[in-house]
Amino acid sequence: MKIFRTPAELQAYALANKRSGKTTALVPTMGYLHAGHLSLIDIARQKADIVIVSIFVNPIQFGPTEDLDKYPRDFERDSKLCEEHGADAVFAPEPGVMYAPDASTFVEETRLSRPLCGARRPGHFRGVTTVVAKLFNLALPDYAVFGMKDAQQLLVIKRMVRDLNFPVEIIAAPLIREHSGLALSSRNAYLSEDEKERAVVLSRVLDAARPALIEGGIEAIPAVLEAMRHEIEKAGGRIDYVEALDASTLEPPTEKSADLLVALAVYFGKTRLIDNTLVWVKR
Ligand code: PAF
Repeated sequence: MKIFRTPAELQAYALANKRSGKTTALVPTMGYLHAGHLSLIDIARQKADIVIVSIFVNPIQFGPTEDLDKYPRDFERDSKLCEEHGADAVFAPEPGVMYAPDASTFVEETRLSRPLCGARRPGHFRGVTTVVAKLFNLALPDYAVFGMKDAQQLLVIKRMVRDLNFPVEIIAAPLIREHSGLALSSRNAYLSEDEKERAVVLSRVLDAARPALIEGGIEAIPAVLEAMRHEIEKAGGRIDYVEALDASTLEPPTEKSADLLVALAVYFGKTRLIDNTLVWVKR
């Protein structure tokens, strides 16, 4: 497995693969890989001749008071896992080679990135779309695989690809959970045992919301969200948001909405966790 540290090395590799007619699948990550990431690599492996995993804790998607410095990192373990899962190359640059000190060009999606995490983390999605656009220009992938745990990120990236005509097919991979129901996340590493046990409430309230919304439709949303908030607070979670939006527009649901995205961000201790579920209210 190859390891590239600079954009130029990766782009030369990607161009050579493209010229020899090989297809490429990219799995963008920030490292500290867990079973969720590995499932993305497995999907990529089935799709294309060449699999590239990027491991880059992207500074421009973190706010000034967020966890950039303490974000967990373990390159040795990550690269071993990538190799075991059949990756052909890992791209692991330092921030200094990704962003010139006077970098002044950014990619911004302006609608789907407004609510939910976009409202609470100003600049976050601009950082994500900018780095993903750069990764697409470097890895030249035919496919790129993203997890549905970051449902809003997935929608924003799909919109960017459509609006800017990137020749990439975005593949949405199912959210992977621990046996307890807790959604896998690199940030779970911050949780104490007690916080981890309490955080199981998140998947429990999402599971309970689904049948209630299928049964009650969009009129049931206020009561369902209220019940979710109550249970989360009872378990000691500090709510950032608990919302239900139209799953394709990320706007407040209307009678026309076919699918709802029920999404939440909740702190346990200092750790902010996100989770979501999709609900088909109309068939
Ligand atoms: O989902 C992530 O890990 C990151 O937001 C991504 C897509 C790798 C961009 O830095």
